[in-house]
Amino acid sequence: MLLNKELIDEKIRIAIENSKKYIGKGEVPSYIPELLNVDRDNFAFCLVGTTGDIFTYGDDEIVFSLQSISKILTLILALSDTTPAYLYSKVGSEPTSYEFNSLIPIGDKAANPFINAGAITTSSMILGSDNEEKFDRILGLFRSMSEFEGTKMDEGIYTSEIATADRNKAIAYYLKSKGIFDQNPDEVLDLYIKACSIGTNIEGLAMMGAVLANKGIGIKTREMIVPENIVQIVVSQMASCGMYENSGAYLMNVGIPSKSGVSGAIVGVVPEVCSLAVYSPRLDKTGNSVRGKGLFKIISQDLGLNIFV
Ligand code: DON
Repeated sequence: MLLNKELIDEKIRIAIENSKKYIGKGEVPSYIPELLNVDRDNFAFCLVGTTGDIFTYGDDEIVFSLQSISKILTLILALSDTTPAYLYSKVGSEPTSYEFNSLIPIGDKAANPFINAGAITTSSMILGSDNEEKFDRILGLFRSMSEFEGTKMDEGIYTSEIATADRNKAIAYYLKSKGIFDQNPDEVLDLYIKACSIGTNIEGLAMMGAVLANKGIGIKTREMIVPENIVQIVVSQMASCGMYENSGAYLMNVGIPSKSGVSGAIVGVVPEVCSLAVYSPRLDKTGNSVRGKGLFKIISQDLGLNIFV
């Protein structure tokens, strides 16, 4: 991406304009009631270069929950607290064609760390004397990656999700029954849902991705936050499993390792170049932001960010 800043800005503005054709397409999820209380047509986009350049557009003040993007944080901590060999003895590394909250991809392992079953399992591996300490570690990791001081758990989202978490509860108890973890399933689930409820603005999300694009080094602090071997695992799992049952087609269309959440956010990582983050709440049937996916495809082409071409 050998472009000057003015040209990058101009290309992003045109891409955002062209992505307006997706406005109004898709639905917000109803299974977390609090997520219905958002303006469906909110929109924000941010690109952060590994050089530290930041390009921000749209509703950049809005704070939204990470939802499944928190699966990146739980995977990083679980890999640090155990080992890749141990983690992948309990969680698979392959994509699944089933939806993110399906019980079917649980055999002797949960299919991968980026479906609910996999992330509930990685949550069980996070060390700490109690859930408060474990959650503080997850939030602390997000704070150092995003450099977003204002981040905290969104109580409204947490309360709403924990009250309606029957499917995830079933998954947690099923994982325990299969011997995939042996902690109290309600406590593991509580930690997982707290992580999903972490709030960010668009720049914080892009900054988090930029650390992964920057081999684990903080963008402003230039300090190591995530070890390089963990970055390599996380980014490759984003490529293969980050967009749920749409991961293969998405990778072919967009060519950027990405992770989505049902709040309507997507974060993408272009190693050693930049990260991209988008927030647009309307989702398609696979739980991915419609306008977000559309915009990433346009920007990938227009800025030459596809990692395969
Ligand atoms: O556990 C859940 O269902 C949500 N907290 C997160 C799911 C999610 O974000 C899937 N995303 N596309």
